[in-house]
Amino acid sequence: MIVANRLPVDRVTLPDGSKQWRRSPGGLVSAMEPVMRSNDGAWIGWTGVAGDETEPFVDDGLSLVPVPLSEQEIQEFYEGFSNGTLWPLYHDVVAKPEFHREWWDSYVTVNQRFADRAAEIAAEGATVWIHDYQLQLVPQMLRELRPDLRIGFFLHIPFPPGELFQQLPWRRQILEGLLGADLVGFQLSGAAQNFVRLVRQRVGHKTHRDLVYLPDGRTVLAAAFPISIDTAGFEELARSESVTERAAQIRAALGSPKKVLLGIDRLDYTKGIYPRLRAYSELVKDGHFDVTDSVFVQVATPSRERVEQYRVLRDDIDRLVGRINGDLGRIGQPVIAYLHSAYPRHEMAALYRAADIMVITPYRDGMNLVAKEYVACRYDNDGALVLSEFAGAANELRQAWQINPYDINGMKATILEAAHSDEKDRARRMKAMRKTVTEHDVASWANDFLAELAAVRPTHGKPVRPARLS
Ligand code: F6P
Repeated sequence: MIVANRLPVDRVTLPDGSKQWRRSPGGLVSAMEPVMRSNDGAWIGWTGVAGDETEPFVDDGLSLVPVPLSEQEIQEFYEGFSNGTLWPLYHDVVAKPEFHREWWDSYVTVNQRFADRAAEIAAEGATVWIHDYQLQLVPQMLRELRPDLRIGFFLHIPFPPGELFQQLPWRRQILEGLLGADLVGFQLSGAAQNFVRLVRQRVGHKTHRDLVYLPDGRTVLAAAFPISIDTAGFEELARSESVTERAAQIRAALGSPKKVLLGIDRLDYTKGIYPRLRAYSELVKDGHFDVTDSVFVQVATPSRERVEQYRVLRDDIDRLVGRINGDLGRIGQPVIAYLHSAYPRHEMAALYRAADIMVITPYRDGMNLVAKEYVACRYDNDGALVLSEFAGAANELRQAWQINPYDINGMKATILEAAHSDEKDRARRMKAMRKTVTEHDVASWANDFLAELAAVRPTHGKPVRPARLS
């Protein structure tokens, strides 16, 4: 059973008033959907709409169990504590986190609701896999209700260093909440180490390497499981005739430029969209790219639109794009083709196929699956990936042209290097990265996590480290 804040589909109201289910935004859903399709089980989550009391239903073969959130809970639990407190705190305080006691109270209430629902429907001895920062109290709450369950937790975003985490007034409760799981998974090993260290310092439990020993005799394992994508599925889509045609159409619609640069992100202040567009516009201004034969396509998927910091970001990006195109664009030839919209997988694959250079520049990112999707779609071993060293993916995609998004001049130089790279160099890098994402796809990620979870046993007495599966 999966427990995540969002169901894989959102309920949307069309202009004619009719309702429809649409795929939810974000990396969590793109990663977990194929995993659930190849396993039996239910997915518990929110439908994305206030007060939605939809009964459990089956959508496209997936058993979905909605958990309702009221308008006030959306403001306090989702927009407030999850995205106004935890999100910036866990992303290097790129924006200032806000701490409000009412937001915390709502976080506790909603986490309890998810735990109650999971406890109600989980079969005896079932495996429950809880996801992400919105639900960090659920492992402990669920264990209290159903000690028979095997509980795993995976954090899709970074886990901060102690110096930042300690700002959180409810730091101990969060750590104890996570310790309700048998296995706590992170994207990177540094995050798992941060967690274990904090547990030792703040909760006072005994730890040894990646294990925490609880007073009740349980052992909790904290380890890294870098998430991935459905590599074969993306490659197959990219090879399809319709994507090939669409990619050609996209290039033609852009005026058949020599170079297409591409950015695809949720419109989020952690993604470094602003410095990326500034860097590119300066390259155009300095004459390194010519607006008549190159274009930067930036897709920004609308996200968390009622949260103040996201509104400000949207205005900032709108203004920046307007200014760059106004100053440097020509009729029918913008410097930046900016699309504030969400696209289905088919269109994304066509964009990846159409792009010569993919530019991904987050200030901090748990993984960044777009980077892996781009690589999966480049079966021709061509295309250049420019990637921030602060994305989790940089750990695996070492052959990418890596940049520091805080260093605009460095970023400009690296984009130019990628643009002027020779075919052989690009093929060498792309082949190596394709090997990584082919060998380590989302199915192997889920298998590793679930196999490790199955191997975790409570130990009474002398601490014994459960065998880590390879
Ligand atoms: O992967 C991070 C994440 O926050 C997911 O938990 C989430 O579903 C996704 O990004 C999209 O964000 P949201 O659900 O707030 O639209």
